[in-house]
Amino acid sequence: MAHLESDFLKVSNEKGVGWIRLHRPEVLNALNRQMVADLVGLLESFDRDENIRAILLTGGPKAFAAGADIGEMAQATSVEMLHLDPFADWDRIRHISKPIVAAVSGYALGGGCELAMACDLILASESAKFGQPEINIGVMPGAGGTQRLTRAVGKARAMEMVLTGKPITAQEALQAGLVNRVIPVEKLEEEAMKLAEELASKPPVALRLAKQAVLKAAEVGLEEGLDYEQKLFYFLFSTEDQKEGMQAFSEKRRPLFRGR
Ligand code: HXC
Repeated sequence: MAHLESDFLKVSNEKGVGWIRLHRPEVLNALNRQMVADLVGLLESFDRDENIRAILLTGGPKAFAAGADIGEMAQATSVEMLHLDPFADWDRIRHISKPIVAAVSGYALGGGCELAMACDLILASESAKFGQPEINIGVMPGAGGTQRLTRAVGKARAMEMVLTGKPITAQEALQAGLVNRVIPVEKLEEEAMKLAEELASKPPVALRLAKQAVLKAAEVGLEEGLDYEQKLFYFLFSTEDQKEGMQAFSEKRRPLFRGR
């Protein structure tokens, strides 16, 4: 299956991992509408491709993304923003069923931080800086920043980040629970690829449902969440991969998962 590169995205596909690099370095990967639309289209096309089992999203050494493109929004009126509905594209990211690993070096600010948080796992290089600086340009986060950040790091830190606009370092992001790991800059992509390949080796249906169940925890109460988890758990007993996984364990061999 062919996956289209675009002006601002570099793409490859190896070892079951669909790999996307944000590439608009002259403006620190500022996310214009076309870039977001292309990115979302690509994520959906990876999601439909049976040969891809995990997705890796990265940027450049200086920036993962320094936010939405300010120039594109500067003169817009409320009504124009309402009609443009830029968040319709962003919202499609949460329906991607395959796990997405974000590998972040340099700035992940505003929409860049929100994009990383819309992924499932975040690996940060030692140079990464996460922040929601929208307050400094007269607005506030709009692509999930007040919601996902607060769920990830708690009210105290989220409030400080959103109200002061001051970014936090990779180490602070690790302590706060925003990222999974901090990695030396030169090792970031290698480690992110290893993690994505590891995910790609897992049984795809279980991987997809497990992702859904973890995301559900942020949305519903415990009783509903546990009920949802149990239903997905039972469902997995209808897959060949469950039979294969358990049989391989008994036979002391590696399982061969086919996504069925
Ligand atoms: C458009 C941007 C940009 C952005 C950087 N650039 N961020 N252009 N939108 N978000 C451009 C600069 O204008 C400049 O272009 C070039 O990238 C290099 O940036 P510099 O500022 O010269 O680099 P530096 O001094 O190293 O400072 C880096 C920085 C700063 C601290 C990241 O660029 C910055 O504060 N950027 C804005 C961050 C921000 O406010 N993000 C939130 C956006 S709102 P030229 O042509 O001058 O060389 C948002 C809402 C999300 O994300 C809602 C989703 C729709």
